[in-house]
Amino acid sequence: MDMTLEQAEFLKTLAEKSDSGSLRGDYSAADAQYVVPQDWHTYTPDQHALWRKLYQRQVQLLPGRACDLFIDSLAGLDAAGGIPQFDRTSEALSRATGWRLVAVPGLVPDHVFFEHLANRRFPVTVWLREPREFDYIVEPDVFHDFFGHVPLLFNPVFANHLQEYGKGGLKALRLGGLQFLARLYWYTVEFGLIESPQGLRAYGAGILSSGGEIGYCLNSPVPRRIPFNAERVMRTLYKIDSYQDTYFVIRDFDQLFEDTAPDFSPIYARLQTLAALPADSLLAGERNLQAT
Ligand code: PHE
Ligand code: FE
Repeated sequence: MDMTLEQAEFLKTLAEKSDSGSLRGDYSAADAQYVVPQDWHTYTPDQHALWRKLYQRQVQLLPGRACDLFIDSLAGLDAAGGIPQFDRTSEALSRATGWRLVAVPGLVPDHVFFEHLANRRFPVTVWLREPREFDYIVEPDVFHDFFGHVPLLFNPVFANHLQEYGKGGLKALRLGGLQFLARLYWYTVEFGLIESPQGLRAYGAGILSSGGEIGYCLNSPVPRRIPFNAERVMRTLYKIDSYQDTYFVIRDFDQLFEDTAPDFSPIYARLQTLAALPADSLLAGERNLQAT
C-alpha cells in the first residue's frame, strides 16, 4: 500500500469532501495494528473475474517493461486465477525472505505502516476496485498492493531495504523528516525505474499495476528520467493525480540499499532549510536518460 504523508492528507481531504466522510475501507474490525481478517471466502465470483481481467491485462504488458526480478517472482506467485489468499503467499514469502502479508482495510496511519515494515510485515488492502475503476483508482486496492508490491518482497536485497525503510520511517517521525522520506518511497518503491542490460525497466508498484503508466514511463518523450540520488529525490515534489513528470533510475537494488543506509538526520536538517524542487525540474549537470 502507499502510505505517504502527502497522499494520506490528500485522501483525508477527499474523504471529508465525499458523501460518507470517511476512507473507503471498513475499519470497524481492525485491531490496534489496523489488521483485519482477509475473509477470502467472501470475495464474489465477479470479483475474482475482475481480478483475472486486471491480471491478464497487466501481465502481458510486463515483458520488456518490468524488471526481470519482478516478472520471475510474479510467475512464482500463482496469482493469475483470482484474488490470492494472503496466508498462502505469506508461507512462501516467509520461506524466501522472512516477510509476511497482513490484511488491512485500506490506508493506515504512518506510524502503523512503518511499524509493519520494520517488522517485515507488508500491509495489503483487502478490497478490490469496482469494474468502472478498471483503469484508474485513487486509493490503493488489493490489486495494486498485491500485484504491484508483493513480487519484489521475494528479493532479499529489496526485502531488507523495505525493512530499513520502515525503521527509517519511525525515525523520520521523531525528526520531522516524514515528507522527505515519503518522496523517497514515492520515487522508488512506487515509481522507480532500474537499469538493465537491455535498457530501462520499471520496478515501482505504482507503475507496474498501471495499464497506462507502464508504457508512458519508458516510452514517452515527456517525462525526465534521472539517475537516482537520494537527497535530490527527497527534495522533489511529486504528482499524485497524473503520470509522473520525473522518474529516478537506480543501477540495481544494491544501490538503493546502500545509498539509503547512511544516517539521514543531517539530510533532513539541510532539507528543512531548502525549498522543495518542482516535480519537473532538471538540475545543471543532471543527465536525462533517453526514452526507449
Ligand atoms: N538511513 C535512513 C536514516 O538514517 C533510514 C532509511 C533506510 C530510510 C532505508 C530509507 C530507506 O534515517
Ligand atoms: Fe503502493
